[in-house]
Amino acid sequence: MINIAVLGYGVVGSGVVEVIGHNHEEVSRKAGEEVRVRYILDLRDFPGDPYEDRIIHDFNTILNDPEIAIVCEVMGGTGAAYQFTRQLLEAGKSVCTSNKELVAKHGAEFLELAAARHCNYMFEASVGGGIPIIRSVNTALTAEKIESVTAILNGTTNYILTRMAGEGADYGQALKQAQELGYAERNPEADVEGYDACRKLAILSSLIKGKNVDAGQIYTEGITGITGADFEYARMEGLVIKQLAIGKMEEDGSVLAMVAPFLLSEEHPLAAVNDVFNAVLVTGNMLGDVIFYGRGAGKLPTASAVVADVIDCAKHRGKNVICIWDREAAKAADVTDTKRRFFLRAKADTRKAVEETFAGGKSITLPGVENEFGFFTRELEEKDFDAKCKSMGDAVLNRIRLL
Ligand code: HSE
Repeated sequence: MINIAVLGYGVVGSGVVEVIGHNHEEVSRKAGEEVRVRYILDLRDFPGDPYEDRIIHDFNTILNDPEIAIVCEVMGGTGAAYQFTRQLLEAGKSVCTSNKELVAKHGAEFLELAAARHCNYMFEASVGGGIPIIRSVNTALTAEKIESVTAILNGTTNYILTRMAGEGADYGQALKQAQELGYAERNPEADVEGYDACRKLAILSSLIKGKNVDAGQIYTEGITGITGADFEYARMEGLVIKQLAIGKMEEDGSVLAMVAPFLLSEEHPLAAVNDVFNAVLVTGNMLGDVIFYGRGAGKLPTASAVVADVIDCAKHRGKNVICIWDREAAKAADVTDTKRRFFLRAKADTRKAVEETFAGGKSITLPGVENEFGFFTRELEEKDFDAKCKSMGDAVLNRIRLL
């Protein structure tokens, strides 16, 4: 019998219990022994819940139980979750988590600790929800020199952008739906301002680089500035708007990492990734492109990834599975040095100035719209683009990068 504990009985925690219950035979057969949830730690009581008898409030019960070798940390945050994870790993208990904030911040530290204590710290569910991207980077793609990842890593924002593009739903309405579906973070600012995708990109880039990519150094922009008008211009040009997370391993050893809304061709494989789905396009030097696609948020897909880690930990009891992510900081490349095209919307009476300032670009107008126009620049360095925008005062209403 493999007894496990679950820290946090929220959306993902209840999903973990449900996956183990629903797929009990499957999970136990693959783990090699019956898997049973012995404890569920939460501050709350759950009267009437089928697992009511497993709810406990004292973490030490789990820490001091020698029969608990695997713990799922699905409580989120970096406070108690950090302390608990450290204590568990120090005690030689493996930890499986969906807590991307904690993994992004302390992944290298916990991996080091797990290796020293011959146990494991696994975090498949922390990036891309149910998509098996972490394990793929660590195993199936391990012979590759990964050159870049271009990804949709936040289900909530992808859901919002899909609703806005398709039904013309307004931003607030779409966010509310995403929250009701259990996709959004407790504080949805983490989703819509890009912080959640930034943390996931930090994890992915760190694993690819093998060094620590600090989330705080990743250029991050949210989707709150995107309006219905942006979608109309995009549609006219055969483009879609997606919130992308891009990690590029540069020749000089630095990592170029950014999260921002991008315009991309309708033909691009990521353009067809809609609703809560996430996708990660990985480019390897031998393999070329490979895409991972699936549900990036939601109770059961995320929980399924946590339980997969539980099975992996069960199969490797007493043995650390190597995962290379050193504490050493990866060098961050400067986004403002990169070159790309930009789309901007500007006030109609500034058209001449915009066309002169961004010579070589193309203006477009929306039928029936007279107070503004759209403009696609030629390829420019980010810092050059920013300086030109600044030089025109408040003429520019919004701008979006082109992939
Ligand atoms: N809020 C996250 C998202 C949950 O929308 O992608 C999954 O990490």
